[in-house]
Amino acid sequence: MSRRNNQGNAGMSITVVGSGYVGLVAATCFAELGHSVICVDNNQQRIARLQHGHVPIYEDLLPELLRKHVGERLIFTTDLAEAVKASTAIFIAVGTPTAENGEADLSAVQYVIEEIADSMDGYKIIVEKSTVPVQTSDWIASILLCRGISRTCFDIVSNPEFLREGTAITDFMHPDRIIVGTTSHRAWEIMRDIYAPLSEGYYYASGSSVPGRCSIDQTPPLIRTSPASSELIKHAANAFLAMKISFINSVANLCEAVGADIQEIALGIGTDRRIGKGFLNAGIGYGGSCFPKDVTAFCSVASQFGVDLDLLVQVREINAQQRERFLTKVRTTLGSLHGKKLGILGLAFKGGTDDVRESPALSIIASLLQDGCSIIAHDPVAITNTQNVLQHHALTYTNDPYSVADQCDAILVLTDWQEFAQLDFVEIKRRLKTPIVFDGRNLLNIDTMSAMGFTYLGVGRPPVTRSTLHRSLTHSVAAIAT
Ligand SMILES: NC(=O)c1ccc[n+]([C@@H]2O[C@H](COP(=O)([O-])OP(=O)(O)OC[C@H]3O[C@@H](n4cnc5c(N)ncnc54)[C@H](O)[C@@H]3O)[C@@H](O)[C@H]2O)c1
Repeated sequence: MSRRNNQGNAGMSITVVGSGYVGLVAATCFAELGHSVICVDNNQQRIARLQHGHVPIYEDLLPELLRKHVGERLIFTTDLAEAVKASTAIFIAVGTPTAENGEADLSAVQYVIEEIADSMDGYKIIVEKSTVPVQTSDWIASILLCRGISRTCFDIVSNPEFLREGTAITDFMHPDRIIVGTTSHRAWEIMRDIYAPLSEGYYYASGSSVPGRCSIDQTPPLIRTSPASSELIKHAANAFLAMKISFINSVANLCEAVGADIQEIALGIGTDRRIGKGFLNAGIGYGGSCFPKDVTAFCSVASQFGVDLDLLVQVREINAQQRERFLTKVRTTLGSLHGKKLGILGLAFKGGTDDVRESPALSIIASLLQDGCSIIAHDPVAITNTQNVLQHHALTYTNDPYSVADQCDAILVLTDWQEFAQLDFVEIKRRLKTPIVFDGRNLLNIDTMSAMGFTYLGVGRPPVTRSTLHRSLTHSVAAIAT
């Protein structure tokens, strides 16, 4: 039974280091669970903005929860030393990008651990929330020991995060499972207390809980493993999901060769419970800050231990080829892109987020610009982040999704924002020079597009071509020639 009241008010004192997509969500959700949380970041500007109520990332439900808890159970600071002294559990949620040799770059983790070591004033648990390679917990312990911290003053816990950007709050509060990797009974008990509102279910009975699939009767399992297993679970989970995407993309390519429809295949195999429906959307491949780097890091760590993960090398290659295949489709359909104008719907690596890290949309846009076309692009929330990393004289942005069609030779759907499927395509067709849609996310209804008179090219789907296409393209080519 729980030792806390319904609100979880006998909460723990927690520090979360990092206020990015994971750290900010975790800190906010821990506050929502009743804990006292200090969220630390070394980015002073970001912390100042958070202290003033600014929400630095786009994430559904996050503004509401921040409003509820900031200044009460959740505070932001750049002072890690003070935060460490005030906390029993310190969650590390800083970035672990890919180093030049393909390994995970743990320099930010190391920096934080060294700072923590300098501020320790009693027993703490240090929790890996960042995605890290197997045996990182041993490495963290060795850093602390080297800096003179007694082995009795700390325990290391691996507690990987499985949230998805776009649904991060709901994923955190209604997880499929919570993994806790530790050899220490004391650390296990602290982690059990931290997650008790979810694993014992009383958060869901509180009346004001974030809605989702868990309930007092259906609580997420708290799974205890060794630290090494826990670290591997995160890499293996992401690698498996990436593999599913590359698998369906390979089958989509076969569909194109034989005239079958990958949407039908995905339905046919996804309804098999052994396979499951998720991550079977064919398209221009996966991106984001996790799958590309985690698959690479997983391969790298396996090879360090003499284990061949060639399967995942293939997964990465298929993913890269998927963008090239899409570009080839655009080029062969439209002919020379020099002087043409393309409209882009979607910049983020997936719908529901403003994150453009490793976004397939951005690499496709960069290639198209090299072909000499001009581009007008729209995304509901990711324009600013894109402008920070992609600038070109022939690339303009618009907040109006309809203006991407104005006098364009074609529209390209590059992100699976569900709202793109709700756009008025009659209006879009009216504005386009030629009614051609390349749907890199298979977001649009093929029959509707066909009935409206579009030339529609999805991924792994039979192309819908209009007899008008050839005429329109001939006009375009003639116009460029004159
Ligand atoms: N983004 C996701 O969907 C997701 C999901 C699960 C796991 N993860 C993992 O979580 C980790 C964090 O990912 P993210 O997307 O939140 O990264 P992020 O880049 O959005 O955030 C990292 C934050 O850490 C801060 N930081 C860096 N060094 C610091 C230091 N020395 N002291 C204090 N703060 C510091 C940065 O300023 C930044 O705000 C990564 O290991 C990632 O693989 C990410």
